[in-house]
Amino acid sequence: MAEATERRRVPDGSAYGRPEQHPDYELTQVGPGTPCGELMRRYWQPVAASSQVTSRPQYVRILGEDLIVFRDKSGRPGLLYPRCMHRGTTLFYGKVTEEGIACCYHGWLFDVEGRCLNQPCEPEGGRNLDVARQPWYPVEDRYGLLFAYMGPPEKKPVLPRFDILENIGPDEEIRGYLGAFGATGDTSMAVAPYSWLHMNDNVMDPFHVYVLHSTFTGVQFANQFAVMPKVDFFTTDEGVCYSAKRVLDDGREYDRISSWIMPNIMSVPNPIDINQERSNMITWSLPVDDSHFTMATAMRVPRNVPDGLFASGGFRFNGKLWHEMSIEEHQDTPGDYEAQAGQGPISLHTEEHLAGSDRGIIMQRRILKQQIKLVAEGGDPIGVAYDPVKSMVKICSGNYYVAHA
Ligand code: FES
Ligand SMILES: [Fe+2]
Repeated sequence: MAEATERRRVPDGSAYGRPEQHPDYELTQVGPGTPCGELMRRYWQPVAASSQVTSRPQYVRILGEDLIVFRDKSGRPGLLYPRCMHRGTTLFYGKVTEEGIACCYHGWLFDVEGRCLNQPCEPEGGRNLDVARQPWYPVEDRYGLLFAYMGPPEKKPVLPRFDILENIGPDEEIRGYLGAFGATGDTSMAVAPYSWLHMNDNVMDPFHVYVLHSTFTGVQFANQFAVMPKVDFFTTDEGVCYSAKRVLDDGREYDRISSWIMPNIMSVPNPIDINQERSNMITWSLPVDDSHFTMATAMRVPRNVPDGLFASGGFRFNGKLWHEMSIEEHQDTPGDYEAQAGQGPISLHTEEHLAGSDRGIIMQRRILKQQIKLVAEGGDPIGVAYDPVKSMVKICSGNYYVAHA
């Protein structure tokens, strides 16, 4: 390895002899005990769409941990370590009851917080039930999603609220979705095979909206994005925002404001209907493990819309959904998935050449690294609240207009 890193690039730019490159492990490793993994575990993370959590146990993988999610027949959701504490078979084959989940092998029964309620093969159904506890994580349903807190119990914050998802009218509702739809634009892929950071970088990158989504491929979102924006980045209490201004044909000055919220949350304005002012959705770029991620979205929609996110199955290009396109069509019309998967399972950050247009990404990564250090030193990262009164996050994202003189 040392030998390889000592190799020198030859002066004409030949690929021969280039140094070995590697990812920024500090930002891309998310398993238990890793610096970024510990940061992520200080925030509630969505692990499933609430409607999908039923009395049928399911595996979920998040932050490099395999877990079992289910809802007991009293309606309480549970997230448990899958290997039964008795002799280690999986609770995937367990039977869900009113009280919890019973292991298929010898019937040990656990409630949604891992308490053992019964050991049917032991005298009196188990004499020491109170010392038996199946490892578990706290979960809470909100905004159509099931959120889990996987961090140190004494540091559990209040599950946050987002102002744009509150004060729901009688004709509206919030729907939760999980899947890699934010990359592909359709519902074909549950988990994308690359790092959460690729999508996280994408959020504070207004310039790719102009190139990738508008001028390189043809228009994937709104026509107006095919104008190079004038961009400002600014920090907020919870993260980073950008303002991308363009002058429209009708003379109005259009300002698209998008938000990134620590550590892996985004709120983007409606990318198709730019007359919809405030953003109506919050999305998490959710690390499944170091080299896989998925997305969770909570979206405010009118009740009468059949499916708020993908009424027609997703975005179409030349009449086709992403998963219907050939390799050649993906080459001709690449989108977020192609650009981000193209960076590899985990990008090689040591060979990046960040430029002025990457300022938002530089700001994001700087905040992440500051907060990783803070957590490692025992502090509380920004955006976690222990007081419900302080748990409301204000979102400024939207499509805004200034009348032009
Ligand atoms: S292995 Fe689960 S009850 Fe025995
Ligand atoms: Fe994009």
